[in-house]
Amino acid sequence: MKGLILSGGAGTRLRPITHTSAKQLVPVANKPILYFGLEDMAEAGITEVGIIVGDTRAEIADAVGDGSRFGLKVTYIPQDAPLGLAHCVLIARDFLGDDDFVMYLGDNLLRQGIAEFVAAFEADRSHTSQDHVDDDPPSAQILLAHVHDPQRFGVAEIGDDGEVVRLVEKPVDPPSDLALVGVYLFDPSIHEAVRAIAPSPRGELEITDAIQWLIDNGRRVRHEVVDGWWIDTGKLDPLLEGNRLVLETIEPRVDGDVDEDSHLLGRVVIEAGAKIINSTVRGPAIIGERTVLRNSYIGPYTSVYYDCEVINTEIEHSIVLEQSTITDVPRLADSLIGKEAVVRRSGARPRANRLMVGDHSVIDLE
Ligand code: DAU
Repeated sequence: MKGLILSGGAGTRLRPITHTSAKQLVPVANKPILYFGLEDMAEAGITEVGIIVGDTRAEIADAVGDGSRFGLKVTYIPQDAPLGLAHCVLIARDFLGDDDFVMYLGDNLLRQGIAEFVAAFEADRSHTSQDHVDDDPPSAQILLAHVHDPQRFGVAEIGDDGEVVRLVEKPVDPPSDLALVGVYLFDPSIHEAVRAIAPSPRGELEITDAIQWLIDNGRRVRHEVVDGWWIDTGKLDPLLEGNRLVLETIEPRVDGDVDEDSHLLGRVVIEAGAKIINSTVRGPAIIGERTVLRNSYIGPYTSVYYDCEVINTEIEHSIVLEQSTITDVPRLADSLIGKEAVVRRSGARPRANRLMVGDHSVIDLE
């Protein structure tokens, strides 16, 4: 079993952050999203992983290296343009060979990991489970999740016999509320499928269409419905939600300095070199390495990454990326602050909001 992680693509829904950075490297609870997928692969016993990379190739390679840190051997597979998820399988053909593989979308977060999912597919394929001996071995396995906005996803229709009968990508009129989670398992028959399909109206080779091709050609597509949470982090609200959910699971730890005028309440991580001065951190929250908090309040569900400065400020339910400075801001909530950003109250007269805002930014003033 090999792994294929998709980390190319455009990331238009997280602009302006993704004008300069890969969306898969945005940190959730101070860990790049992509690392969760890599750790899940290693936990499932996979060692050889291909990563599809696009324009942000250098940044991804910098962050992941040869994969040995995760116990993986990583091969980078460049994609010239984001031509679709099935296109990624097409260009990974040499790397994948005739092995079964798990494909993982690099911007997805899945609470339960993938180990059980991989084991179930392998067991079913090798007929080790007596319950399945009458069925053909599955050619693919998909994960589904109930969502309230199925129009944003690939959607599955389940027939009366409990099997998947139809998959549609981003339907205007969804046949169910069961979205395709970005983790798929395939046997080598998917290679024939991705060669057989044509680009969709949005100009992409859709993996959804390739799986439909398998069904239409008599292959068995196994499915499971996830019981833990799953987040496609591609937009701000789900990203903050992912941050919230991961922070709820962190183990409290203090490796930095907390002065006697400060208070840490609940599930809080203070990384090495961080300094908490006359401040309160109410968890779940994480403060990154060498970050300084002074006369500030960090509220629940907030991740402040490394080398930041937060002075006379209150922040809640937000993600702050590395090397940013936030000064004299009475209340910041539900926000994503990019790298090396400066947010401050100047106090200058006449009173005004003076902004230098990146392209595609969204600013909500109180
Ligand atoms: O998140 C689950 C959804 O992911 C599924 O429900 C959909 O059926 C599936 O098509 C996909 O939809 P998205 O529109 O969210 O996919 P997105 O374009 O965001 O790409 C997912 C990941 O794959 C992301 O990390 C970027 C990467 N990618 C994407 C494309 C189109 C590539 O590496 N190359 C590509 O050509």
